[in-house]
Amino acid sequence: MPTAWTPQSWRDKPIIQVPAYADQDALKTVERRLSEFPPLVFAGEARKLRRKLARVALGKGFLLQGGDCAESFDEHNADNIRDFFRVFLQMAVVLTFAGGQPVVKVGRIAGQFAKPRSSDFEKQGDVELPSYRGDIINDIEFNAKSREPDPERQIMAYRQSAATLNLLRAFAGGGYANLEHVHRWTLGFLKDSPSSAQYQALADRITEAMGFMRACGINPDTAHQLRQTEFYTSHEALLLGYEEALTRVDSTSGDWYATSGHMVWLGDRTRQPDHAHVEFCRGIKNPIGMKCGPSLAADELIQLIDILNPDNDPGRLTLIARYGSENVEEHLPKLVRAVKSEGRHVVWSCDPMHGNTIKATSGFKTRPFDRVLSEVRSFMKVHQAEGTHAGGIHVEMTGKNVTECTGGAHAVTDEDLHDRYHTFCDPRLNADQALELAFLVADELKKEQGAGVDVGDIEAAE
Ligand code: PEP
Ligand code: CO
Repeated sequence: MPTAWTPQSWRDKPIIQVPAYADQDALKTVERRLSEFPPLVFAGEARKLRRKLARVALGKGFLLQGGDCAESFDEHNADNIRDFFRVFLQMAVVLTFAGGQPVVKVGRIAGQFAKPRSSDFEKQGDVELPSYRGDIINDIEFNAKSREPDPERQIMAYRQSAATLNLLRAFAGGGYANLEHVHRWTLGFLKDSPSSAQYQALADRITEAMGFMRACGINPDTAHQLRQTEFYTSHEALLLGYEEALTRVDSTSGDWYATSGHMVWLGDRTRQPDHAHVEFCRGIKNPIGMKCGPSLAADELIQLIDILNPDNDPGRLTLIARYGSENVEEHLPKLVRAVKSEGRHVVWSCDPMHGNTIKATSGFKTRPFDRVLSEVRSFMKVHQAEGTHAGGIHVEMTGKNVTECTGGAHAVTDEDLHDRYHTFCDPRLNADQALELAFLVADELKKEQGAGVDVGDIEAAE
């Protein structure tokens, strides 16, 4: 029998990836202040996202999740948020059209600040300092003062999240998401893309479909779906003191919700069934993600599903597979089969980023675009073979023209990486690479349509 859950019950469990705050009193003061701040999102919104994800779990939708590896205090400005949102919407339109199903839009944004690290310390020359753990914890500059964890940064992260969310809500509801504009931007992208011929046919079909709708009187002025969108936020639930402070009872249902974002996920390093991060996530009612990497065995996955989704509620749990292009076909089928044979409802999503990080000869951490694409393709192939639904993708991306991942139609090379390498953590797809990925995934979705998934089972489960 699991013990009773409270927002604090994680504190009695073993925990890893915690910053060493020197001043525990200052930390407590910050957590108390945060616990009195307004929620960033509402429980009702998280519930709505859960319902949308339930449809994805049942084979009737696709999850697009993406954004920075780590948001930063320095790069917080309206242009960055707008450019990200624009390319994200373009991707969503391409995927909606190709898949013929709704795309659930979830950003890694407005709270994605805390980073797990493979080592507690970083060494440069003879100097060893605490690793950078994300702007919510310490500063990336390599000096002792910057790397000292500072609780006040949690207040900054909260305020930045609130401002980001405010702008995103305005963009989503205030006309920026107008489908005709979004499609026009995509046509602009195609004009400049060396691979445009490959994608033009799909874009032409969208143009045609929109022309037809317009002729029938369905346009952004007459149909709010064409001028607005629903956009949700997500981040890794890593810094649990911060998460606890923003966990509140929903007055409608009496349930506890993390109000730091609509969806939170467990990272690949912090999903031990008896540890603090799983304990925290099991008690909140938000939709939860969980990263699944090569070290996760099928029986442990089922054990984690028992803990995190005991009611087998579709939409509660998104499993985010991140194996690396070479490893997917070896590891994923076992897990997919176990989940299917146990009759568990989950969204299967593919993170093609975290298993494909390499060190370029120039010394930069990078991710070759071909490997990213190949991981998505293998992921979809596995689901086709198993008769399950490839439910989404989870990508690290930006709306800016950075040079962090190699390849893509514009062929970023190893030598280009130093040009505009701006990430605070892992290398992200730039705007062109992100949209190109959407077009290529769209091709795969077209193949999936009508194949594989047993619709009879889906109808029965609903
Ligand atoms: C991340 O999503 O940035 C991350 C650290 O991923 P993972 O937990 O899969 O390594
Ligand atoms: Co990352």
